[in-house]
Amino acid sequence: MTRTPIIAGNWKMFKTVSEATAFVNEIKGGAEVAGVESVVCAPYTCLPALVEAVKGTSIKVGAQNMHWEENGAFTGEISGLMLQDLGVHYVIIGHSERRAYYAETDETVNKKVHAAFKYGVTPIVCVGEKLEEREAGQTKDVCKVQTEAAFAGLSAELAKQVVVAYEPIWAIGTGKSSTAADAQDVIGYIRSLIAALYDSSVADAVRIQYGGSVKPNNVTEYMGEQDIDGALVGGASLEPASYIALVQGA
Ligand code: G3P
Repeated sequence: MTRTPIIAGNWKMFKTVSEATAFVNEIKGGAEVAGVESVVCAPYTCLPALVEAVKGTSIKVGAQNMHWEENGAFTGEISGLMLQDLGVHYVIIGHSERRAYYAETDETVNKKVHAAFKYGVTPIVCVGEKLEEREAGQTKDVCKVQTEAAFAGLSAELAKQVVVAYEPIWAIGTGKSSTAADAQDVIGYIRSLIAALYDSSVADAVRIQYGGSVKPNNVTEYMGEQDIDGALVGGASLEPASYIALVQGA
């Protein structure tokens, strides 16, 4: 099974609309590499302009969160219907910053995954352990609970389309990345969990990214591992030259 590698930039709370459109204009061409999918996940305010800016390119646009309800009295929230209406392709769900600061739980992650598919937006689901969990030898247990919860109730057809991002929390924004071999070990394990939940055809289809201090100078090492299908990148996705180098390095 050949999986298309996917590099996704998670801009977090960075960039105004004009900065975002200038970024896309700079990465056109350079970040369009045959056989690699390239996605920029931007703040909500930038999404309409970005969807417009990527027209005619192979670059895709993602949001960083969404609500599971279609509409309602949820002040400050954005629904899957609204993302679909904009033409957004991907949405990050369950990023550790959302889990830590905005009370995201395994249950809300699962609701959001179902809602994303309902509105034709592909979820990039984040899983990963805290430093103390790693030190206690609980990395795989944590990833098991989070992965199984995220996939709960999904048909095999939808499960195949999920993108999982394994992001050890201690590696996010710290410059301390997981070794490629350690990342492969956990990501291979996550793939085996998906095989146990469904079957090997589903597990072989799901793309699993590594995230956590990925840079142009280490992306190729991760991509060399058999179960690592790309990267979810924060800091190093913010500068056009660096983003282009990440996509080219994949
Ligand atoms: O979602 C990407 C992220 O959390 C990793 O951030 O800055 O370590 O690449 P960074």
